[in-house]
Amino acid sequence: MTELADLAEGIRADPAAHRVLTGDRPTGPLHLGHYFGSLRNRVHLQRLGVEMFLVIPDYQVITDRDLADRLAEHTENLVVDYLATGIDADRATIFTHSSVPALNQLLLPFLSLVSVAELHRNPTVKDEIAHSSQAAVNGLMLTYPVHQAADILFCKAGLVPVGKDQLPHLEVARTVARRFNERYPHPDGTPVFPRPRALLSAAPLLLGTDGGKMSKSRGNSVPLAADEDTTARLLKGAKTDADRRITYDPVGRPEVSNLLLLAGLCQDRAPEELAEEIGDGGAAALKRTVTEAVNEHLRPIRARRAELAADRGHIRQVLRTGSERANAIADATLTEVRAVMGSL
Ligand code: TRP
Repeated sequence: MTELADLAEGIRADPAAHRVLTGDRPTGPLHLGHYFGSLRNRVHLQRLGVEMFLVIPDYQVITDRDLADRLAEHTENLVVDYLATGIDADRATIFTHSSVPALNQLLLPFLSLVSVAELHRNPTVKDEIAHSSQAAVNGLMLTYPVHQAADILFCKAGLVPVGKDQLPHLEVARTVARRFNERYPHPDGTPVFPRPRALLSAAPLLLGTDGGKMSKSRGNSVPLAADEDTTARLLKGAKTDADRRITYDPVGRPEVSNLLLLAGLCQDRAPEELAEEIGDGGAAALKRTVTEAVNEHLRPIRARRAELAADRGHIRQVLRTGSERANAIADATLTEVRAVMGSL
């Protein structure tokens, strides 16, 4: 587990040594929480010169829902969000799970390295099961962390930017890599897989407009793609409290502080300073400030988003190119895996 600030120097010295992989489920539009929590970080990493892989895990969607609805639309919109926020498609490899057969084949040897008891113990899977919209838990859900290990290991990524909730999955990827290397080393003893490290975002967690965890499915987020009026309406409806004097107090006044934090992130200013400025203006003044800050910050991103969204041919081409690159790498890794395993 590492934070970006600790790594920046090492990355600058040798960007090529840092291959990064992360991904987002194609289940709906990305929102401000994704943007400040991870998208900005990725763009920053890419600008430092690391090689970036972005998996759109379409097979993960069928772990916890009966229906993978509007998959193509959600997938394309994710690519639009990536490019609009600054990911450079010429340097990043963006692809879906399902378009890289060799990645999925790695699941078979990997599954043999993990016990059924370990699969049952995974806290992230337990949590996902608790929030699942399915009546029964399917087999893919239980084995999902191993699938995610294949996402990470097929390209031998060393760094995986994730939220805290994903740390148990990353631990599975590390375990699979270690056990694979022990059981199937190259004849000269060198390991096939690096042990990937989690890269935790230093950005503070944003809450939803209801004061709960911001989430695509809870209707409490501001989507990146929302227009300015919708943004204003969503933020106007945000929960606050009755105290007219605005102060930054994340523990005592989480909702008010969250809005201050959001405005601060947009303007690159300290939330305390904004609180001071708003003073006795109350929730209405606070919401006006936040709305302006968000809309202003997102204006260029949204303009670019609209342009990109109008050219679906280009978006599909980005995915085709990404999938070709990912396939070439996955094929090479699978060839290596088959060789060390003694497959003919
Ligand atoms: N499981 C992650 C999520 O639910 C998405 C994901 C899939 C991912 N494969 C990954 C994240 C590989 C990091 C690395 O958000």
